[in-house]
Amino acid sequence: MTVILGIETSCDETSAAIVRDGQRIASNVIASQIDLHSRFGGVFPEVASRAHIEAISAVVAQALSDAIVTPAQIDAIAVTRGPGLSGSLLVGVNFAKGLALGWGKPLIGVNHIEGHIYSLWLDESAPDIVFPVLCLIVSGGHTELIEMRGHGDYRLIGSTLDDAAGEAFDKVGRVLGLPYPGGPAIDAAARKGDPNAFNFTRAMQDESFNFSFSGLKTAVMRAVQAPPADGKRTRGVESMDADSARPDVNVNDAAASFQQAAVDQLVDKTIRAAKACGATEILLAGGVSANSLLRKEMQRRTALPVRYPAIKLCTDNAAMIAAAGYFRFMAGQRDDLSMDIAPMIALVS
Ligand code: KG4
Ligand code: ZN
Repeated sequence: MTVILGIETSCDETSAAIVRDGQRIASNVIASQIDLHSRFGGVFPEVASRAHIEAISAVVAQALSDAIVTPAQIDAIAVTRGPGLSGSLLVGVNFAKGLALGWGKPLIGVNHIEGHIYSLWLDESAPDIVFPVLCLIVSGGHTELIEMRGHGDYRLIGSTLDDAAGEAFDKVGRVLGLPYPGGPAIDAAARKGDPNAFNFTRAMQDESFNFSFSGLKTAVMRAVQAPPADGKRTRGVESMDADSARPDVNVNDAAASFQQAAVDQLVDKTIRAAKACGATEILLAGGVSANSLLRKEMQRRTALPVRYPAIKLCTDNAAMIAAAGYFRFMAGQRDDLSMDIAPMIALVS
C-alpha cells in the first residue's frame, strides 16, 4: 500500500489529505477562506496567503490524525506547485519541502488542473476509467477540454478565450446581488427561476472547441442593471461592481437564464469534442462541475457515460492532489527540494 500526503494551497482553501493507493481517502481536511473573502466579493491574494500561513500547520496535523497515520507511514508528499496565486502556492510548497526534508520523504510537485482531473479517481466503488477520456475542467480559474489518453498523457482540445466558467458565475452572481461565491448561489436561485425568461446571447456557437463567457456576462449586465439617469446607454458603461439588480428584475429568472446559456455552451462543445476524440466517457471536474444543471444536461444529451466528483471533491481539496501525486510517484517522479512554485504553468499547451 502506498500512502501519499497531499497539500493544496493554490487559492483560498488550505487543505491536507491522506490518500491510499491513489483512490482511498483516509482524510481530507479543508479550511475554507470563503468567509474571509466574501466581504471583498472575491479572493484577495494578500489576505489568502496570510490565512494559509495561519492554517497550514494545524490542517496538516489534523489530516494525519484523522487518518491515524504517522509520518513514518507516509511514502511521499505531493503538493500543488501551480497554477495559482504566488503567495498562496509559496506557503504550501515551502511547508511540503520542510516536511520532506524533516521526515526524509520524496517531494512531488503536482499541477492543480491535473489534481482536479484525478478527483475522478477518488471513488473506489466506481468502475475503472478506460482511456481515452475527454475531461471538461471548469473552475474559478480554468475552462479546458482535455483529452486524456493515459496517466499523465494529455492533449488540449479547447479552452476559454476570456473568462473562466466559474469566474462568469461569480461575476454574474455579484451583479445579481447574490452572496459570494456566485456559482452555488446561482445554482440555488436558478431552481426557482425560469430559464427561458431572458434570451441571453448563446455565445460561441461555432465549430471550434473554445469557450467564451464575456459576451454572456455583458448580456446579463445589460439586462439587469439600471440604465443611466438620462436614459441613454453608452457601450461599456455598465459596472461589474454593482451588487444588485434593478428592483423590477426577477433575480431567479435572470440566474436561471444565465445558467442555461452557460451550461448549453459547455455541454454542446464537450459532447462534440468527446465524439471527435473517440472518448469512452466524459469526465467533469473543478468547482463548476458541482453545478446541478451541468451534470443533468450533460447526461441527458449524450449516450456516453458522464462521471463527476462528489460535491466535496469538485472544489479545491488536497485529496485530489494526493491522488495525482500517487500516479506521478508510481511513474517515478521525484522533485528536488529546490523545486519552485509555477503560478502560470499550463497542464498542456
Ligand atoms: O475548483 P475551484 O474550487 O477553484 C479553482 O480552482 O478555481 O472552483 C471554484 C469555482 C467558483 O467560481 C465557484 O463559484 C464555482 O467553482 N462553483 C460553482 C458551483 N459550486 C462552485 N459554479 C456553478 N455551480 C455550482 N454549484
Ligand atoms: Zn481548483
